[in-house]
Amino acid sequence: MDYVKFGIVGIGNMGSAHVKYIGELSNAKLTAVCDINPKAFERIAPETREKIKCFTDADTFFKEADIDAVLIAVPHYDHPDLAIRAMKAGKHIIVEKPIAVHKAEAERLIAEGAKHPELKQSLMFCQRTIGAHKKIKQLIESGELGRIRRVNWVITSWFRSQAYYDSGDWRASWRGEGGGVLLNQCPHQLDLWQWLFGMPKMIHAYAKLGKYHDIEVEDEVNAYMEYEDGMVGNFIASTGEMPGENRLVIAAEKGKLTYEGGKLTFVRNEIETSEYSRTTKNAFGPADRWTCDIPVSSDGSHQHRDVIENVANAILRDETLLAPMAEGIRGLELGNAMLLSGLKNKVVNLPMDSAEYAEMLAGLVADSRYKKNSVTGTSAVEISKSF
Ligand SMILES: NC(=O)c1ccc[n+]([C@@H]2O[C@H](COP(=O)([O-])OP(=O)(O)OC[C@H]3O[C@@H](n4cnc5c(N)ncnc54)[C@H](O)[C@@H]3O)[C@@H](O)[C@H]2O)c1
Repeated sequence: MDYVKFGIVGIGNMGSAHVKYIGELSNAKLTAVCDINPKAFERIAPETREKIKCFTDADTFFKEADIDAVLIAVPHYDHPDLAIRAMKAGKHIIVEKPIAVHKAEAERLIAEGAKHPELKQSLMFCQRTIGAHKKIKQLIESGELGRIRRVNWVITSWFRSQAYYDSGDWRASWRGEGGGVLLNQCPHQLDLWQWLFGMPKMIHAYAKLGKYHDIEVEDEVNAYMEYEDGMVGNFIASTGEMPGENRLVIAAEKGKLTYEGGKLTFVRNEIETSEYSRTTKNAFGPADRWTCDIPVSSDGSHQHRDVIENVANAILRDETLLAPMAEGIRGLELGNAMLLSGLKNKVVNLPMDSAEYAEMLAGLVADSRYKKNSVTGTSAVEISKSF
């Protein structure tokens, strides 16, 4: 086999973007697509459409399409169910972010995945391929930064207007989408957070529902985290600020690393902070230090295709997956725990109780002003099944 035959379920904004580049890869070919709304196929260029088969029913698609792997790009609630059905039909899978709406659903999907070790299972965590993110990971893992004491990530560059939220009645509703900035906009940063720093032992957060927009779900979150080794973290996210910012600061023993505007800057201490603090006779002044602008290898303009290429190579020659599906539960748990803490005004210890979160979400869904059970209200999973 020289290339992998891919199919895509969900030809909306993201699915139709995936359609455009898969055919350009040397190790992948797009052979079929599926969407419950046949109008979605009009988003595919005619020259591509004549080379692929279009399906409107997912199970027929999994059974009859000439595909080895499926990319699932439908709204969030349907990710676990469609991924499970694809694996049961013997297909390798790539699931769009987030892996699921809540932790118990991710657990259900991962448990099914464990029954299919012969299938490659990936998540579309394309931001792991960005050069700066890979460099930060390398700097942490090589010990270049020393022990990390504090991390701050302010990710408020996700501005969305009311027109964005009004563009679909399912959007930003508990029943239709299942969450706000933590579930829709921030899954990449939450995944990168756990990828770089691991999981905290506790989270205390504030979450504001519809603070800047006429929506049900959270559009501003301020979270504080503590780790076993004493590291503390702050994660601040909003869709209501303009201009927003994407600024990550890592304060470590050997200096401070800042990532902002695509630039990575390391202010390097000559001597580790704790040793200097212990030994210096200087009451106030910091140790000598120097500033390094760290070059990064790629701008991330090929993020999505890099993931597809990786999954194809994993299928063809057992290349290690960049973003194994099972890892998706960690960033999801961070987001769920922030919301649980914020809405119940309490500290949440991790691992969190997935049933407690599911119960809270079920209450929010019951009161949701969006009344359908999925984007279309037809073939998608009934939300009640999730609880
Ligand atoms: N990785 C990224 O950078 C990135 C960026 C944007 C969106 N996304 C993710 O992509 C996914 C889709 O988002 P979107 O903005 O394209 O949504 P969208 O609403 O534009 O498109 C979803 C499509 O799925 C179809 N659909 C719904 N249920 C279906 C089902 N059961 N079977 C077949 N088709 C079904 C709908 O008809 C629609 O065409 C979401 O999970 C989102 O978070 C990822």
